[in-house]
Amino acid sequence: MDRKIRVNFGERSYDIVVGRNILGKLASYIKGKQVVIVSDPLVNKLYGSKINIPGAKKIIIPRGEKNKSLRSAEKIWNKLASWKISRDATIIALGGGVICDLAAFVAATYMRGINLIHVPTTLLAQVDASIGGKTGVDHPKCKNMIGTFYQPKLVYIDTETLKTLPKKEIKNGMAEIIKYGVIRDHHIIELLENNSKLPQSLLQELIADCASIKAAVVSRDERELKGERMVLNFGHTVGHAIESLTGYKGFSHGEAVAVGMIAAAVIAVKARMLDPDDLERLWNIIAKTGLPTYVKKLSPQKILNAMLLDKKVRAGKINLVLPERIGSVVLRDDIKPKIILEALGEFICK
Ligand SMILES: NC(=O)c1ccc[n+]([C@@H]2O[C@H](COP(=O)([O-])OP(=O)(O)OC[C@H]3O[C@@H](n4cnc5c(N)ncnc54)[C@H](O)[C@@H]3O)[C@@H](O)[C@H]2O)c1
Ligand SMILES: [Zn+2]
Repeated sequence: MDRKIRVNFGERSYDIVVGRNILGKLASYIKGKQVVIVSDPLVNKLYGSKINIPGAKKIIIPRGEKNKSLRSAEKIWNKLASWKISRDATIIALGGGVICDLAAFVAATYMRGINLIHVPTTLLAQVDASIGGKTGVDHPKCKNMIGTFYQPKLVYIDTETLKTLPKKEIKNGMAEIIKYGVIRDHHIIELLENNSKLPQSLLQELIADCASIKAAVVSRDERELKGERMVLNFGHTVGHAIESLTGYKGFSHGEAVAVGMIAAAVIAVKARMLDPDDLERLWNIIAKTGLPTYVKKLSPQKILNAMLLDKKVRAGKINLVLPERIGSVVLRDDIKPKIILEALGEFICK
């Protein structure tokens, strides 16, 4: 059974559809004549022909984060203009987070905004990048620096596409799934604890649950103004520090977030907010998933310094999202650096 999740943004509300082998039915959701599919060569080869929309045009952007750039956006704008694509046209983003962010940025800006449909094909894009309306490209100085908030008309998730996704990319998405469990839903963690292999049907449910958690959080704080969206940053403060210190090479995003979630849980135990048994549960799930639980060759002080450089640090206060139990987190900006250093020293930096 397909699952449908309504995302509430007033007159801009839309659905997230989660199902299996549903790419062939996407055509029935399209309004208007002009359709442009943006994808990468691999995803297009695997799934492009499954989306059967007569007359649809295609733009293929090479794979990789380095192509999430203004140059790629310009390439797409140029093609849209040369094909005389008009304002009632629809862009379909078919791919991982790179394609989703880039195609969404183009949809948001071409003629001040045309229709956008996300068809995410990585686990990370299905539970995270395609949900929430953040679009963007990278700037040489900073990731995701140029962008807009822009909601799609539909997010269309076919979990069958995950069958071809490399293990490494699955793990990347699993880190975010664990994150959703800790911040909002202990059932997710229990489900992961009780199943060493996830059958397709369970995975589909899990993806729908995570997508709806993110949708609920962002619909209360669309532009990240009220702080509600901050909970999605669980594991990301230390995670971003590790990513930047290792030059975005040593650790994938999910791996860095996995270590970051453990760091946050250790800090929470030290601040007497979290039962050590819950830290152990989180640690076990992360290890069982094959994600790292510690880092080598980085000192606690280096990580703390990098945390202080994070763009979300205001007035020298580090905002931390800390678990108080599995399924609930709180925001704290009053944790003493000494506690952070101790936590990193004892558990994270080997
Ligand atoms: N907008 C947001 O809210 C948000 C949130 C999280 C991440 N992001 C962005 O997402 C990007 C990362 O996304 P990602 O992890 O999906 O990486 P990605 O888009 O680079 O995809 C990873 C690789 O998987 C391949 N691939 C995609 N689908 C496949 C499939 N079904 N089978 C086989 N191979 C497949 C792609 O060709 C690519 O090489 C980053 O740029 C990040 O900034 C955005
Ligand atoms: Zn993340």
